[in-house]
Amino acid sequence: MPRAAGRREHSFRHGAVAGTSGPRSGFPARGRGSGRSVVSRLLITAARDEIMNISKFAIPEVIFGQGSIKALGQCALRLGARRVLIVSDPGLAQVGWVEKLFDLLEEAGLTWTYFDNVSSNPRDYQVHQGAERYIEDQADVIIALGGGSPMDTAKGIGIIAGNGGCISDYEGANRIMRPLPPMIFIPSTCGSGSDTTQYCIVTDIGRQVKMSIISRSLVPNVSIIDPSLLLTKSLELIIAAAIDALSHAIESYVSKLASPFTETLALQAIGIIMQNLKPAVESRSIQHLEQLAIASTAAGMSFSNAGLGVAHALAHSLGGIYDTLHGLVHPILLPAVMRFNLPACQEKMARIGKIVCGPRFSSGRELAHRCIDELASFFLQFGVPVRMREILPDTSKLESIARMACRDACALTNPRDASWEDLLGICQEAW
Ligand SMILES: [Fe+2]
Repeated sequence: MPRAAGRREHSFRHGAVAGTSGPRSGFPARGRGSGRSVVSRLLITAARDEIMNISKFAIPEVIFGQGSIKALGQCALRLGARRVLIVSDPGLAQVGWVEKLFDLLEEAGLTWTYFDNVSSNPRDYQVHQGAERYIEDQADVIIALGGGSPMDTAKGIGIIAGNGGCISDYEGANRIMRPLPPMIFIPSTCGSGSDTTQYCIVTDIGRQVKMSIISRSLVPNVSIIDPSLLLTKSLELIIAAAIDALSHAIESYVSKLASPFTETLALQAIGIIMQNLKPAVESRSIQHLEQLAIASTAAGMSFSNAGLGVAHALAHSLGGIYDTLHGLVHPILLPAVMRFNLPACQEKMARIGKIVCGPRFSSGRELAHRCIDELASFFLQFGVPVRMREILPDTSKLESIARMACRDACALTNPRDASWEDLLGICQEAW
């Protein structure tokens, strides 16, 4: 069976964001009286501080703007494509975007094979089916069109096509050792950020776990972001996607691995979403939708490089057990998570508060608290569920959800360490 020949640069020597193997965790703690000289200890401190100040920032080539989808053929040819695997879903086919892709590839003289067995919260077996298709049909480039589900499925297909084995072998950070095929992603929503990130989320059906797979090699080669695609999305999906992007921005802004680059992008994303989501929902104008696409991209760049937090760890657990729509769990979780995190990042919470509440409050502490209340009110106006009891049948699985979330890679970068009991407390508060 012919294997795909990956052409992407591989960087598995570089740690990804989860902090378990990156330089920030590379220095052992050294207590007083270790036997080293003062100079030696100072040098170690200086070296450690220097390393603590190092940040990495990985993003794909981004082609942004209305009509940018027309660049697809040239991008694929530039990556050496002859026969591409298109990964999408029936919804995108229904509104004509898949047909549009076929036309663009035909114009570029390329052939394709099409895979659309993709569900919301993509499953492990779908990834394996897609990888079989990629190999059997001798594809050489992967194109994903859609929201987070087709894009994460495409990443999973790329992992198996390039590395073999089972998708669960790669759960966690930096487990992918061989290159993936070249990938071009075209997002059709304004939220998941999968087109810019090092993350791939796939459900292990046997264990009922949404696995977080994190690796630099999961950043696609090219992300083509055409806001025109948002015009064919339902209001519910636009709201869910934009709130997901808002959660990415907030969690990555307060993350343990945030850097000046990610913080700037995260704050920008929060401001744009707060200003544009309501007008976008009311008017569906391309101008406001384009702003949401910009915010989603900025938030994706931020969380890809800074990591997320326990709202996402819990969202993954909930999605693994109850197949919930990812974006709609954040209005439920975020206020309780932010209250839990407040003691660890009050100043940063106040910075977010300045954007969310405006300059009405002068005290940082007051701003931080108001920020959480104001966000809760912001969510209410979109008619989304805001209590966990609205989406879960009973409390019987809360402990399992909390225990599972504690092991999720996203929990590692939360600004405040959280035990499973803490996470259970958050769920109970959100109930
Ligand atoms: Fe998310």
